[in-house]
Amino acid sequence: MSLPPAFTIAPMRADEVPILEEWAAQEGWNPGLADLAIAHAVDPDAFIALRQGGELVGGGTIFSYSAGFGFMGLFIIRADLRGGGLGAQLWHHRLNLLRRRLVPGASIGMDGVFAMAPFYEKGGFRLAHRDLRFEGVAHGVTDPAIQAYPEISFAEIETYDHRFFPVSRAAFLLRWLEQPGAHVRGLRQGDSVVGYGVARPCRSGFKLGPVFADNPASAERLIGSLLAAIPGEKVALDIPEPNGAGLELAAKFGLTQSFGCARMYHGPAPDLPLDGIFGVTSFEFG
Ligand SMILES: CC(C)(COP(=O)(O)OP(=O)(O)OC[C@H]1O[C@@H](n2cnc3c(N)ncnc32)[C@H](O)[C@@H]1OP(=O)(O)O)[C@@H](O)C(=O)NCCC(=O)NCCS
Repeated sequence: MSLPPAFTIAPMRADEVPILEEWAAQEGWNPGLADLAIAHAVDPDAFIALRQGGELVGGGTIFSYSAGFGFMGLFIIRADLRGGGLGAQLWHHRLNLLRRRLVPGASIGMDGVFAMAPFYEKGGFRLAHRDLRFEGVAHGVTDPAIQAYPEISFAEIETYDHRFFPVSRAAFLLRWLEQPGAHVRGLRQGDSVVGYGVARPCRSGFKLGPVFADNPASAERLIGSLLAAIPGEKVALDIPEPNGAGLELAAKFGLTQSFGCARMYHGPAPDLPLDGIFGVTSFEFG
């Protein structure tokens, strides 16, 4: 199948990225204020445009983490053009492009809406688990043992992060930790980091992500400290469903399930310690 006349797929221009961001907000995905700018700064080639004539009518990202792991997100067709096959064309084009951008055999992840999972399965993705979004109002407690970045250094966080993410992602992480308005907290036991988490401002309120910890007790202290930094704000936290202790923690902090995604992989699912993932970084970039 080929695109109808006047439609083209090409790299997205920087001035088109805010349009994609606006569409994402309209879908209710509540993007972090800096999410797309960070992704664009780290991997500008991740942004793919569908245009009609010269006008952006659809898009999506195909993020490459140093060619070792890919992530597909922000798949949107302008509302008035949906249901006519454009999305399928854009999606397969993006998948083929991303596969060419990665080393042979590298896996690709995505968090897709449940209704679309059969379509992604036809494209070669397999369901790994569900990632569930919990939302509520931030009420936390400060904890004197919790330290803020950069008291916990970038090198420590970066090393720790890699235990919970398929590849090392220094360029992305540095910008993520240092984005305006973010709160970054970490916990040490002796000389070792045993957890860290980030709260970042979004269109509405804040999202926590990532929140990685050695055990539920450390995660509770981290989440409590992050929530204490943003009292009364609307907050969201996305937890892999297999992490039962994480789901219990969300309830303990008064957060209730509002949404969810199917975490799917093309290629082997990375062997990640899901019981230490108390918040995924984002549904858009992994
Ligand atoms: C998802 C989206 C990009 C698809 O674009 P589109 O042009 O409507 O898609 P197509 O007409 O090419 O259909 C592609 C496939 O998606 C399926 N699909 C589209 N919308 C769907 C929906 N709401 N629920 C279930 N399946 C859907 C179609 O059935 C088709 O699958 P098939 O080939 O197995 O029949 C578009 O509907 C959109 O922007 N939706 C809002 C944002 C969104 O939900 N994005 C996906 C996040 S994972």
